[in-house]
Amino acid sequence: MSRSLKVETKPAALREAGVARLHRRLAANGAVVVPALPAARPEYAEMLAAQFASVGRALNSDQKKHLSEVLDNQLGEAFRYSPHARIRIDWKTDPPPAVTLSYNVTVLYSTMTEQYEEWTRTRTPPLFGAHPDGKVLEAAASLGEPGAVRCLDVGAGTGRNSLPLARRGHPVHAVEMTGALRQQITEAAATEGLDVRVDEADFLKDELAVEPGAYQLVFLSEVVSHFRSVADLEELLRRAARALSPGGKLLFNVFVPHDSYTPDRFVRELTEIVWSTVFTRAELRAAAKSAGLELLSDESVHDYEKEHAAPEAWPPTGWFIDWTQGGDIFSLPIGRAPIDMRWLCYRRA
Ligand SMILES: C[S@@+](CC[C@H](N)C(=O)[O-])C[C@H]1O[C@@H](n2cnc3c(N)ncnc32)[C@H](O)[C@@H]1O
Repeated sequence: MSRSLKVETKPAALREAGVARLHRRLAANGAVVVPALPAARPEYAEMLAAQFASVGRALNSDQKKHLSEVLDNQLGEAFRYSPHARIRIDWKTDPPPAVTLSYNVTVLYSTMTEQYEEWTRTRTPPLFGAHPDGKVLEAAASLGEPGAVRCLDVGAGTGRNSLPLARRGHPVHAVEMTGALRQQITEAAATEGLDVRVDEADFLKDELAVEPGAYQLVFLSEVVSHFRSVADLEELLRRAARALSPGGKLLFNVFVPHDSYTPDRFVRELTEIVWSTVFTRAELRAAAKSAGLELLSDESVHDYEKEHAAPEAWPPTGWFIDWTQGGDIFSLPIGRAPIDMRWLCYRRA
C-alpha cells in the first residue's frame, strides 16, 4: 500500500499535534460568577469559550449557539429577579479519552434588602456617611420653621438625614424597607427621644399610612439609584405628590445622562447592577408632569455637597466622589462619564 501523505517532521507542527493529544489526558475545571447583565451575554459567552479553548475544548458553532441560549435564559431569569442576582457557571472536562467538556449554569438569587442586611453585618458604620446631605438641610430650611415643616424621608437607611432633621425640630416620618436599618433608626430615635415615626415598608408597593397633603418636604437620598423602571419613577412621583402639602417640595438625587448622550440597553442594565440606575431628562419631565410637579432646580450632587460640606464631612464616604460622577458605571477618569448624579427639586403646584 502506497502512502499518499508525506510524513510530518517539522518540530513545531509535531509539538502542536502532540499537545492536542495531551488534551485527551488532562483534567480541568472552573467556576465563574458574573453579574446578571443580560446585555453582556456576548462578552460572557466569549470569555467562557476562551476558557474552554485554553484546555483544548474549543466549541464548534452549534455548541457556541447552545451556550448563548443557556446564558440568555439564566441571565434573563436572574436579572428579572433582581439586579443583585448573579449567575454561576461551573465547568469540567469530561473523563478521557473524550475531548469534550460539561457545564452547568445556575442563578444565585439575591435582593437589595439582602445586600443591605449583609452590609450591616460586614461593614463598619456609618454605612452611608456620618453627616446629613447639605441639600436636604437646605430644602427643609427653605420651607419655614422646623416645627411646621413635616418631612418624609423615603429609604431613610440609618437615619443619616432623619435624625439631624428631628434634632432641629422637624417632625419626621422615615420609611425604610431593610429591617436591620429600620431598627437602627428606631433605636437611635428612642435613645435621643426624637420625634421620628419609622415604618418598615417598600414605599413603591406597600399601602402606608401617609396622610395626604400633610408633608412640606418629601425626600429621597441615594434611593432612586435602586429603581428598576420608569414605572417605579412614576409611582414615586405620584405617591410623593399625594403626600405633599400645596407648595411642598420633593427632593431626590438620581443619575441622569448628559443631554448629548442616550444610554443604550447595555448601559441601562449596567447602571441597575452597579446601584446607579439612570433616568433621562425626558423620562423625568414626563413623570413630573403627570404627577403635577414643577421642577425648581437641577444641580450636580457632587458639586453641591462638596461646596456645602464642612471640611471634616468631606468626602461623605470612600465611594461618594466616584459613585456620584458615574465612576461605578464606567472605568473612565473622573469627569469623563456621560452620566452623573443630580439633585432634582420639585414643587407641588
Ligand atoms: C444607599 S441607602 C441610602 C440611605 C439614606 N437615604 C442615606 O442617604 O443615608 C438606600 C436605602 O434605600 C432603601 N430603599 C430602597 N428602595 C426603597 C423603597 N422602595 N422603599 C423604602 N426603602 C427603600 C434601602 O433599603 C436603603 O436603606
